[in-house]
Amino acid sequence: MRTIPIRLKLTLWYCLIFGLLMILIISSIYLIQRRSHYNEIDHSLVSISEYILKETYTELGKGVSLSMLQLEFKNLSLNGVVFAIEDITGQSIATGGGKLQKPNITLPEMHGMKEPLHTFADQDQIRYRMYVQTIVNDNEVLGYVLSEISLQNIDRSMRFLFWLIIYFTVFGLCLAALSGWYLARKTFQPIAMITDTAKAIAHTQGFEQRVMHDGARDDLGLLVETFNEMLQSLENAYLSQKRFVENASHELRTPLTTIRGNIDILQFADRMPESEKQEILGDMKREAVRMSRLVAELLTLARADAGQEIAYDIVDIHEVGLEVIREIRNWSSLVEIECQLDPLTMVWGSRDLMKQLLIILIENAIRYSQPGGTVWIRAKNQDSLVRIEVIDTGFGVNEKELPHIFERFFRGELARIQFPAGTGLGLPIARWIVEQHQGQIKVHSEQGKGTQIMVQFASVRGAI
Ligand SMILES: Nc1ncnc2c1ncn2[C@@H]1O[C@H](COP(=O)(O)OP(=O)(O)O)[C@@H](O)[C@H]1O
Ligand SMILES: [Mg+2]
Repeated sequence: MRTIPIRLKLTLWYCLIFGLLMILIISSIYLIQRRSHYNEIDHSLVSISEYILKETYTELGKGVSLSMLQLEFKNLSLNGVVFAIEDITGQSIATGGGKLQKPNITLPEMHGMKEPLHTFADQDQIRYRMYVQTIVNDNEVLGYVLSEISLQNIDRSMRFLFWLIIYFTVFGLCLAALSGWYLARKTFQPIAMITDTAKAIAHTQGFEQRVMHDGARDDLGLLVETFNEMLQSLENAYLSQKRFVENASHELRTPLTTIRGNIDILQFADRMPESEKQEILGDMKREAVRMSRLVAELLTLARADAGQEIAYDIVDIHEVGLEVIREIRNWSSLVEIECQLDPLTMVWGSRDLMKQLLIILIENAIRYSQPGGTVWIRAKNQDSLVRIEVIDTGFGVNEKELPHIFERFFRGELARIQFPAGTGLGLPIARWIVEQHQGQIKVHSEQGKGTQIMVQFASVRGAI
């Protein structure tokens, strides 16, 4: 089902409220105006009629009969009022102001109605207002005083006012609709742009697209800004994932190519001396070992990216450190290892990941040291932290390479020569482990002098 766009909904609501308000206000003004005009007319009709009646009674009081009545109304300002005095037979006794129009009913009938004011129309549909009063003497109806005014002018101006109001209301509503639509469109433009951009990205995966924005820092401006920031981080994540996959395939292809090449050589080298064969097999084994290591590390990072669940427990760095050193001493004899692991250096974390972290740091320190160098491994409680330090006297990292050592697949130039089996994935894994444990990792290194890596976690010693 197609829903009504929010812009249209807003415009319709706006018009509805505006229209109702306009109709309410304007119709009240119109009705008040109309009423006051007609009341004014009635008022002048009544007052003129009353005056004439009073004069009539004065004359009758002098003993003059109605048919002999001689009245002069020179000073009477009629303002369009026409009047007549008639006896009960309808004989006109006095008139003033012009020709009197008569309704279709007789005067006694008219007077019998409760309301002495009557409105009627002639054959041309011109309306008249008439006021009828009886002239009574000694309980005998002698005649009538009729006063009348044509409503033609006032009806015309009221009609004019009515249509004027209708035109203005329609015009105002159209204006309100147009301006409401324009405003709603303008207001919702950023949302429309976000929708378009999101649609385009959904179709093309072009995360480099951004929503254009005039820079106003209102609610929608902030929405656009946040949306663009989100796109930026999506783009970064997308690009780094792409790079990661490309690098991983490249790294895996190299040992596979070497192994395949060596297999080809061995297949067709019947008369190759045994020693040479052993050398080739040794090469293949090294490449296979490197590949297993690479695959294991890639798996760790893939799980990290997928937001792997970690089982937390209390881990004693002292105990894990000793285990790692025991294992490492088996294969490293050229470097002296000095360790100073304080007891009860407890952190909240995963024992396996902590062990992996120590292996990565200590292995780097040993691999990138010269024979005869020293590696110090320390762990101590300091304030409410557990601080781990791995310090070596190796060839260090130069200033150019230092900012990149936590990037996936990055390997220093000297490191490649010294330890060709490396993958460049150790430190990225180390950093991920530290982040998962809300810790911090810092590196200090000087080329030719050595490297110092410090890691710290919150201690849980106080909590147990
Ligand atoms: N202790 C160290 N001494 C000198 N260089 C180091 C040290 N630790 C790390 N590096 C540098 O950081 C790079 C990345 O390290 P890492 O991620 O463990 O990958 P890899 O050891 O496989 O090269 C290394 O190639 C090296 O250049
Ligand atoms: Mg390493």
